[in-house]
Amino acid sequence: MTTINANKPKPADNKKDIICHCSGTTEQQIIAYIESGCDSVDKLSRMTGATTGCGACENKVQEILEGYLRKSE
Ligand code: FES
Repeated sequence: MTTINANKPKPADNKKDIICHCSGTTEQQIIAYIESGCDSVDKLSRMTGATTGCGACENKVQEILEGYLRKSE
C-alpha cells in the first residue's frame, strides 16, 4: 500500500512553473506529491486538483510522472 504525505507543498513561488492553470498546480507541487507516494495521474489529481478542470494538462502531468519514475529506476 502506498503512503501519501498529506502535507501540502508550499504555494508556487514562480507562476511560470504552473502546469495546471485551472488549479494553479506547479511542477514542483506535482513532484513533491510523487516523492510522497503518488504514483498515478489519478492520485496526483486528487491531491492537487490538476487535470480536474478542463483536462488540458493531463498529458503534461503524465509526462512529469513518467519522467520522474524513469529517473528513479
Ligand atoms: S489546465 Fe489542468 S485542468 Fe485545466
